[in-house]
Amino acid sequence: MSRIESILWDDWHVVAEIARLRRQGRMTTTLLGESLRLRRDANDGRIEVDRKRAAADGSVYQPVGAVELRYGFVWVCLGTPVRPIVDFAECAEPKRLTASAGSVRVAVSGLRAVENFLDLSHLAFVHAGYLGEQPHTEIHPYTVEPLAHGGIIATGCRVYQPKASPVAAAGFDVDYIYSVLRPYIVVLYKANPIEPRRKDMIALFVQPVSEETCVAHILTCYLPHDADPHAIRRFQQFIFGQDRPILENQLPKRLPLSPRAEFSVRADKSSAAYRRYLAAAGVRYGAIAEA
Ligand SMILES: [Fe+2]
Repeated sequence: MSRIESILWDDWHVVAEIARLRRQGRMTTTLLGESLRLRRDANDGRIEVDRKRAAADGSVYQPVGAVELRYGFVWVCLGTPVRPIVDFAECAEPKRLTASAGSVRVAVSGLRAVENFLDLSHLAFVHAGYLGEQPHTEIHPYTVEPLAHGGIIATGCRVYQPKASPVAAAGFDVDYIYSVLRPYIVVLYKANPIEPRRKDMIALFVQPVSEETCVAHILTCYLPHDADPHAIRRFQQFIFGQDRPILENQLPKRLPLSPRAEFSVRADKSSAAYRRYLAAAGVRYGAIAEA
């Protein structure tokens, strides 16, 4: 039995970009405090993931519970998978550009990274000139609801953005939908600048390295209009680069789940709903539980 709650231990987590692992041949990383060794077999190209186990006569490596390749990433379940990897129908649409936009290591709880991704109020300040702009700082009312199988969805979000995506030629009011699908997985759908009735998708798969460190893996699934995969990747890395120092300065580094914590400064509806969901689901890893 693991000391880590089943909702995390028996679920799927991204641990690497496939392209990077294929290039390097081998990598090491950490998931939920467990040391992992990733290898591409030189003969058949298969990807193997082993976990370091302490043994009486030194440490040994054993295969992890389960490994799958999806959306350009290596997914690992340390325990026994109790649910499938999150499914995104958009990624199966042939004309969309589905691509990894990179992996960024951040010295903060992954739950903080998810919460920041949900937070509309930071856009005009942290991403000024891109995902927001003063004086457009007011957050218009939106709806947050629980999802039937766990998680939350925020609909009716609308934000003025000067440069919503790499293909945006001018600013516009961007319609957004956010959804937390798993404790460490969040996705947003935002109106495409050229075809505003349809939405681009950006998912954040956060790898909990330790309780206070994570790697944020970014998946983008854009409508094809003039979009250049390299420009999308550069844009997302640039945006996340603006979030990173903000995230790393947050204290405490773990996310407090008490409804009273921090809300004088971060009165955000989706953030509150996210914390309630984590508390109700019994997520402790990366969190500070209610007193
Ligand atoms: Fe941000």
